[in-house]
Amino acid sequence: ARKGSALVREIHEKQSMNKSRQRFWELAGSKLGDILGVQKTAEQIDADTAVVGEEGEVDFKEEAKFARHMKEKGEAVSEFAKSKSISQQRQYLPIYSVREELLKVVRENQVIVVVGETGSGKTTQLTQYLHEDGYTNSSIIGCTQPRRVAAMSVAKRVSEEMETELGDKVGYAIRFEDVTGPNTIIKYMTDGVLLRETLKDSDLDKYRVIIMDEAHERSLSTDVLFGILKKVVARRRDFKLIVTSATLNAKKFSDFFGGVPTFQIPGRTFHVNILYSKTPCEDYVEAAVKQAMTIHITSAPGDILIFMTGQDEIEAACYALAERMEQLIASTSKAVPKLLILPIYSQLPADLQAKIFQKAEDGARKCIVATNIAETSLTVDGIFYVIDTGYGKMKVYNPRMGMDALQVFPVSRAAADQRAGRAGRTGPGTCYRLFTESAYQNELLPNPVPEIQRTNLGNVVLLLKSLKIENLLDFDFMDPPPQENILNSMYQLWVLGALNNVGSLTEIGWKMVEFPLDPPLAKMLLMGEQLECINEVLTIVSMLSVPSVFFRPKDRAEESDAAREKFFVPESDHLTLLNVYQQWKANQYRGDWCNDHFLHVKGLRKAREVRSQLLDILKSLKIPLTSCGMEWDVVRKAICSAYFHNAARLKGVGEYVNCRNGMPCHLHPSSALYGLGYTPDYVVYHELVLTTKEYMQCVTAVEPHWLAELGPMFFSVKESDTSMLEHKKKQKEEKTAMEEEMENLRKEQAEADKLN
Ligand code: CDP
Ligand code: MG
Repeated sequence: ARKGSALVREIHEKQSMNKSRQRFWELAGSKLGDILGVQKTAEQIDADTAVVGEEGEVDFKEEAKFARHMKEKGEAVSEFAKSKSISQQRQYLPIYSVREELLKVVRENQVIVVVGETGSGKTTQLTQYLHEDGYTNSSIIGCTQPRRVAAMSVAKRVSEEMETELGDKVGYAIRFEDVTGPNTIIKYMTDGVLLRETLKDSDLDKYRVIIMDEAHERSLSTDVLFGILKKVVARRRDFKLIVTSATLNAKKFSDFFGGVPTFQIPGRTFHVNILYSKTPCEDYVEAAVKQAMTIHITSAPGDILIFMTGQDEIEAACYALAERMEQLIASTSKAVPKLLILPIYSQLPADLQAKIFQKAEDGARKCIVATNIAETSLTVDGIFYVIDTGYGKMKVYNPRMGMDALQVFPVSRAAADQRAGRAGRTGPGTCYRLFTESAYQNELLPNPVPEIQRTNLGNVVLLLKSLKIENLLDFDFMDPPPQENILNSMYQLWVLGALNNVGSLTEIGWKMVEFPLDPPLAKMLLMGEQLECINEVLTIVSMLSVPSVFFRPKDRAEESDAAREKFFVPESDHLTLLNVYQQWKANQYRGDWCNDHFLHVKGLRKAREVRSQLLDILKSLKIPLTSCGMEWDVVRKAICSAYFHNAARLKGVGEYVNCRNGMPCHLHPSSALYGLGYTPDYVVYHELVLTTKEYMQCVTAVEPHWLAELGPMFFSVKESDTSMLEHKKKQKEEKTAMEEEMENLRKEQAEADKLN
């Protein structure tokens, strides 16, 4: 088992960092800013946008705005980019040398697999080549990305190369954000967005070509799309599919589509010298920081890229690096070369993300501290040193918690090789692996486990069911998920009332599919319809779909806590969110009002945007916008109806246990229910977060009889310990019965297939 990093803990304690990201940015911003030239913190940027939006004239497409801003400023241009014109850069890419051949293979085949090193030009050039070859004359080209960041940054880059505004000829779409227009002919999008589009248009008639980019990542949506697109290919002769992969095991993709051609883009990479740790590393964050400092002080020029698992570690490492640089500068009279410390992870604001592409001033060295986002989806030129901790975060279904959780795992050998390769793009490089060679050979898996085999499939099941794929166990998966996962997800949907006893979509299930939300959130929204408080529930769902809006700067902790408490609705964090939003609205959605009340205006605006998009869906379903006014009890009931599987019972002071599995769960000190002398016997929570304890995130008091009414499969009114046991038994029986039904159905189906 892996020990947590002592350095991360130390820095957490030292700065008493809580989970508030903004607080870190304030700390790091001032510190890094002073000595390292980072100009803006997240707060300053928030403050800037607050002024822009004050008149109620809010531009929600902040990323697009940002892109335009960057274009004007000419920032975010790499060193290489500065020395060459954009068309020269295009011709310099490895893919350019095989352009004609590649287009010929595309013309002659319906499906092809394209393999090429990261940075060879697949993502940015393929779409443009196809456009230049006439594939956009009467139709459009779609290109999917497993990551939102990649979809946005690549669309921005290509819009620059094609000299068009982002959102015009080239655009992108991610969940809750569509930056495309009537002129868009090249559309970058997350694979999740395309998957949802198949619901409306199962043949994807809008698209002439789909490029499934970064297929080696094997994200959940990509894997489902594989099965769906295989059918589209069979039905539409005019449709083309290009699957791209950065790694060599593309044969699997080719085989899946019936042995289609694989096109290899010749690589242009340099040798990377790989150095292993001699002994297993106790604290890889500390070790990585040390290694980076050693490189900076002793090695030749060249930028550094460090791979960490997540935001916490990245923040701690950046902070420690800044601190050590400061100490170094203070302790010597010699000139110390500058180190530009740049974090990157998916939750980082886009403006800060773009800094990694920025050229460091002369004599300064860049040190990028990244998650596996920098493994293949983002390419930064000029990296000569890679420091690989050997770990990464993966979403894994945790049966005990009954939900997906991000967990830290050793990376696969394929991923480690990919990481090392990042050092050899501009010249011969070095990769420092903070694990032993024997661990690499004997402990790492050869390839990562596809997401579909390790996560909750609730959304996928719902989606496939709505595509009339009755028998999920027979769906054409490249690597089928374990049967147990499918059945578990079906069970959860059945509990929510989205599936009936024979595993078909119910009326509410059909409606749930329409919303790009996790099934319980969609259920909550639709219960708002039944309970005639959809206006209120809509706001809560939107607020739950954005990061926390509460701002808690370190030096004004008490003041901000007091401001937050003013919004508290004692029986519910959900209602507290509703209250915040309604008050913001009553104050004309003003930015300065947010600043005065320690609220993140950006988060609230995002919530407003999400809300308006969900409202559009409600309208399209002809669901009227009912309101309960200030009678909020019924809202709590709607919440209960979707989250009764997360019900907890009071056990001690601030201490609860999950009603179903007895797992302890605690009220978070930031909860409205905490320390107000009012602790309800029963609560439901949005999710469980594991930090020092199991904390319930977003809690609402519920009446016990609601649980019995809304979740009869779990609860009865008279709940003694024995009846709980009986319930567990009954629950198990019901689950078995449902599984049997489904198995019968499957057999019948198989019989029928045989007869046909
Ligand atoms: O997809 P692949 O990894 O093969 O390459 P790409 O993403 O098309 O990147 C080709 C080149 O475009 C990179 O080497 C970068 O120099 C440049 N690029 C950029 O400057 N900014 C981006 N957001 C993406 C790519
Ligand atoms: Mg790419």
